[in-house]
Amino acid sequence: MDEPIVVPRPTSLERTAGSVALDRSSVIVAPVAARPVAALLRALLSPATGYALPDAQPGAPGGAERDGVGVDIALEVDPALDRLGPEGYRLVVGDAGIGLSSSSLAGLQNACQTLRQLVDPSIFGRAPRPGAAWTLPCVVVEDSPAFTWRGAHLDVARHFFPAHVVSRFIDLIALHKLNVLHLHLTDDQGWRFPSAAYPLLTEIGSWRAESMLGHARAGQFDGTPHGGAYTRSELADLVAYGAARNVTIVPEIDLPGHTQAAIAAYPSLGNLDETLEVWTRWGVSEHVLNTSDAALDFCRTILGEVLDVFPGTYVHVGGDECPKTEWSTSAPARARIAELGLAGEDELQGWFTAQLGEFLAGNGRRLVGWDEILEGGPLPVGATVMSWRGTRGGVAAARAGFDVVMCPEAPCYFDHYQSDDPEEPLAIHGRNTLADVYAYDPVPDGLGADAAHHVLGSQFELWSEYLPRPEDVEYMAFPRAAALAEVVWSGPGGDLADFERRLAVHLARLDVLGVNYRPLAGPHPWQRGGRGARRRP
Ligand code: ACM
Repeated sequence: MDEPIVVPRPTSLERTAGSVALDRSSVIVAPVAARPVAALLRALLSPATGYALPDAQPGAPGGAERDGVGVDIALEVDPALDRLGPEGYRLVVGDAGIGLSSSSLAGLQNACQTLRQLVDPSIFGRAPRPGAAWTLPCVVVEDSPAFTWRGAHLDVARHFFPAHVVSRFIDLIALHKLNVLHLHLTDDQGWRFPSAAYPLLTEIGSWRAESMLGHARAGQFDGTPHGGAYTRSELADLVAYGAARNVTIVPEIDLPGHTQAAIAAYPSLGNLDETLEVWTRWGVSEHVLNTSDAALDFCRTILGEVLDVFPGTYVHVGGDECPKTEWSTSAPARARIAELGLAGEDELQGWFTAQLGEFLAGNGRRLVGWDEILEGGPLPVGATVMSWRGTRGGVAAARAGFDVVMCPEAPCYFDHYQSDDPEEPLAIHGRNTLADVYAYDPVPDGLGADAAHHVLGSQFELWSEYLPRPEDVEYMAFPRAAALAEVVWSGPGGDLADFERRLAVHLARLDVLGVNYRPLAGPHPWQRGGRGARRRP
């Protein structure tokens, strides 16, 4: 019997005898509570099949009994499946039909992603293929994830990607059962989050005069303005789009460093009495927020607006790479340090982060920060640390009883090269191969069981200095995202050769979706020499 290939690999998949087919008489039987998942399934299966797959009430006559030979799809919310955890599911394809069951809508959403992978890759097409047969092998699948935080980070600040690009990205990560989209909404080079209270953040702060051309070390510029920002309704739509696919958006407002775009819009937020431009260079700007009451009010107001748009528990406040040069010579910063009795600038940042943590906790949310937030004194209660500078920060935080997301540069920074091949398109530096990603274990060696449970999971990062186009994002994301997805869903320690064998089949799905992934055999011919600026120097 042919082997059904599902990526990430399910916990258990038993191939049983026979196969069934969907046809135009097939319906989706769903209780009212599962109707949103029926809508998702229809969105996934109707375009290529051309079948309406209408809703039917449980107990109503099925499509197969009315006419045709197609089976029905039944969705069931079953509290007994709690044993599979909050995102697990059971999927049975048999003579009696197709059944998806879970204790949660999240589990049913995950089941939908498995179901579509049981059908021919052409199911991923956008146009109907009249006359095609849509068969599924009979199987019994029981599946649940190894980690609860299975993330994808996208930097929409260095290069802006419009909402339709982000929703496609959500589709692609959801296909791989990744459940967090970490949106890096602000940085020195652009502010993408709309604020009613501070409209200049997007009016001024979302556009820079030009971008660096080729590698930053070449010091060249393209002379072309770049910018863009989301509207509130676009962000609300993205939140809903993600929620329908078990993807929660974690918004990041990077504070107090990486804020030159904000200071360009509102110079009083800075430490100098001068007007700055939205930064046109890549790197880490020296210009950071001041620590006045007004600047903290600004942060709380922005975060308040963020909470209105993003309902998820976690809100990321950055905290990374905040140079202290301005604070060390600023009279108000020195006065703040003295007034609070702090040891220096690092503790000043710790105090600043604590204010943000208090605000978020007071609003029922949890602060997430890059691992630099460990450096300024005690972490805010309930903080979650993203360990990016290796694993040390994550290990320390987990041992201290804080939750962590492990996303060290090696191998989680997907803005790094995918091989040493000189034909790889231009990247920032480094090398994280598919094999490196697949070999990753988010729980660092030596972390005892008492602390290991604080490792929520992992995510990949796509910083976009060198990713000006959506196709560049896809090239760097895939297929490494499939490898990380299998680590965080199926668990670490998988067999690379087996993964690559299955991945070759899975890539046919990405082909139909038109994903510009990096081929397993080497850099994409389309990328080679496509644009001089995209080539590795
Ligand atoms: C980071 O890469 N600055 C988190």
